[in-house]
Amino acid sequence: MKDNRKPAVDGGVPVRSAPWPKRCLFGMEEKQAVIGLFDRAIESGEAFGYNGPEEEAYCAEFSAFLGGGFADAVNSGTTAVHVALRALEIEPFSEVIVPPVTDPGGVMPVPLMGCIPVPADTAPGSYNTDAERIAARMTPRTRAILVAHIAGIPCDMDAILELARSRGLPVVEDCAQAHGAVYRGRPVGTLGDIAAFSTMFGKHHATGGQGGIVFTRDEQRYHKVRWMSDRGKPFGLPAGSGNVVAALNLNSDELACAIGRVQLRKLPDVLTRRRRFAALLARACRELETVRVVEAPPDCENACWFIFLRLDTAKLRCDKRTFVAAVKAEGIPCDASYLHTPAIDDWCRRRRVFGTSGFPWTDANYTGDAGTVYELPNALAADAGHFRLSIHENCGETEVADTVAAFAKVERAFLSRPRACPPAAPGAMVADRSTRTQREPRESMDTA
Ligand SMILES: Cc1ncc(COP(=O)(O)O)c(C=O)c1O
Repeated sequence: MKDNRKPAVDGGVPVRSAPWPKRCLFGMEEKQAVIGLFDRAIESGEAFGYNGPEEEAYCAEFSAFLGGGFADAVNSGTTAVHVALRALEIEPFSEVIVPPVTDPGGVMPVPLMGCIPVPADTAPGSYNTDAERIAARMTPRTRAILVAHIAGIPCDMDAILELARSRGLPVVEDCAQAHGAVYRGRPVGTLGDIAAFSTMFGKHHATGGQGGIVFTRDEQRYHKVRWMSDRGKPFGLPAGSGNVVAALNLNSDELACAIGRVQLRKLPDVLTRRRRFAALLARACRELETVRVVEAPPDCENACWFIFLRLDTAKLRCDKRTFVAAVKAEGIPCDASYLHTPAIDDWCRRRRVFGTSGFPWTDANYTGDAGTVYELPNALAADAGHFRLSIHENCGETEVADTVAAFAKVERAFLSRPRACPPAAPGAMVADRSTRTQREPRESMDTA
């Protein structure tokens, strides 16, 4: 007979053999919205396009979700960052402070507009940067600050904004992972000068496979956003004005925005469910010796895109990767690392943007040191002491209980000094598994 206490990596029975629940991102309502568009197109003989009524409504509803302002739907989160930066009309060869840990799409737009990405390190124990680390990377060439709220945890924006204002610098918020996160009572995306959201299918709300939104509360800047996302068309200028700048066509379209409108209605429930999962997990982990959920700072609300967990390896006889591999073997979808550091990655170190020229770093107009390699010791240290759990809004109490049971089992196997009195059965801290159904009831998310 198999030993249930033996880690699955050593041949024991895994805590969970069922796959993680399906996310069921799209349902009948999205399908109906898309069919409705096609029905109208077929009936009228007019194709649906872009910048139409669905996009107008979606952008207005998204702005309302953020408490008012102006939104422009674009075709990805990467282009949202690009458009937001371009709307600031920063001159080439300027330095832009960029997030240390982020998706490549959150940094690549900077050199593509002829500017120099300068990564600020993370705050200690975090994947987010902070004012102190940003100040340390500022030079007379700095022209903008781009921050990302990684995992859905808001950056400490008050201090960042104070620093930015003191230097007259605009702040761009990359909210790709933080739809609905709240910083001291205000939604992220409304704190800086302009914000970018990704609405690709992995995010809290989606406009289809790909998508993004640029948001600002400043109407003049919004016009520039429209210029930069649609070939310099003269939005906000008198009729007859010609195209005002060179820009790509980065528009979203009616199909995407029709889906986005349905998804946006689901977003509050998505956030509630994710936060509930995180809160239950955080509470249950407090019974463990080595694993803690990293929670949002006081007065902030995490959007919980993924769960960031701290691991106290000093108490373990194994390293983090071994621990996480053992948890994964128990059937829990953890990753040992989220160390995406685009501004020090190979493409950036090798200055591979415009052919092999090294432009913009190597251009005579750039007066900084083209060879600077930025160290990110805090980011490396934070990554060494943390791991992440992939969740979505359809994960419930069963998944919390299984996750904690897996953590507890692996911890027990690897603790340097085994506990004299083992903790209560981890499932008991969440709910009695035997009396729960596998899937929580869904309140407002339809399944296809
Ligand atoms: C922080 C951040 N910025 C930008 C992006 C790029 O978004 P997209 O994949 O929609 O282009 C992502 C995507 O995951 C992201 O997480």
